[in-house]
Amino acid sequence: MNSEEKQIRQDLLSSFNLDPQCIPQHIAIIMDGNGRWAENRGENRIFGHLNGVESVRSVVETAVQSGVRYLTLYAFSTENWNRPKDEVEALMDLLVTTLVQEMDDLNKKGVRLNTIGDLSALPDNCNNQLKSACSKEVGEVRLDLILALNYSAKWEIIQAVKGVVRNNLKIEEINTDTFESFLQTKGIPDPELMIRTSGEHRISNFMLWQLAYAEFHFTSVLWPDFRKEHFLTAIQDFQNRERRFGGLLQTNDK
Ligand code: IPE
Ligand code: IPE
Ligand code: MG
Repeated sequence: MNSEEKQIRQDLLSSFNLDPQCIPQHIAIIMDGNGRWAENRGENRIFGHLNGVESVRSVVETAVQSGVRYLTLYAFSTENWNRPKDEVEALMDLLVTTLVQEMDDLNKKGVRLNTIGDLSALPDNCNNQLKSACSKEVGEVRLDLILALNYSAKWEIIQAVKGVVRNNLKIEEINTDTFESFLQTKGIPDPELMIRTSGEHRISNFMLWQLAYAEFHFTSVLWPDFRKEHFLTAIQDFQNRERRFGGLLQTNDK
């Protein structure tokens, strides 16, 4: 990080009274509310998805600037195939166009792309674009951007169980660490903060294992309206939580 970037980070964090030592290493977001955002304007749901791209841009940039190391965005669930064909096609097209338009610039900013989910069911052009975008060399990696695509937490856990069986692990070898090595998120620390937009209070088959001890921040803001200030407010909320992990808060009392 050069001195200008350091200054940007300092200014950004201090404007939201954020402690630079307690920025979550990994933030996961359920980007929800695109359809309602469009319908509120008398537009087709796809218009909402198109406008959600600007929010992704803003959040990725703010994550880099504020020092978040991993950002996972839930972009398409296995249940989302149940939507009308034209909406699914528009989402897939949007993914490809956005990757083509943004990836070079993101790589220059130190953003490395990764995915979780079953990509094999995505259209070939999506799959190919994703493979090429994920294989791009990034100089100094500042942010791992993980797109959850055709993702289902239950599917991921079943895949991991299959991996355990396929590798003939002995009962005594199965523990949290070995099991996690078969998850899609292998090598990635669990999110400390999960944000869901649009006022829904559920996790919709997202990261069931990894969110075991995450803090949840729910906001009624619809995804296409979500910007830098909402992201930083979520981190502020996180920094005001007492994380006890089943223990007791440390006090001076004996
Ligand atoms: C989130 O917005 C985007 C995806 C699930 C792909 P929605 O499309 O779910 O928008 P709402 O929840 O219907 O408003
Ligand atoms: C969750 O949103 C999936 C994504 C954001 C990709 P949905 O809108 O699909 O979830 P439900 O239907 O409200 O549970
Ligand atoms: Mg939704």
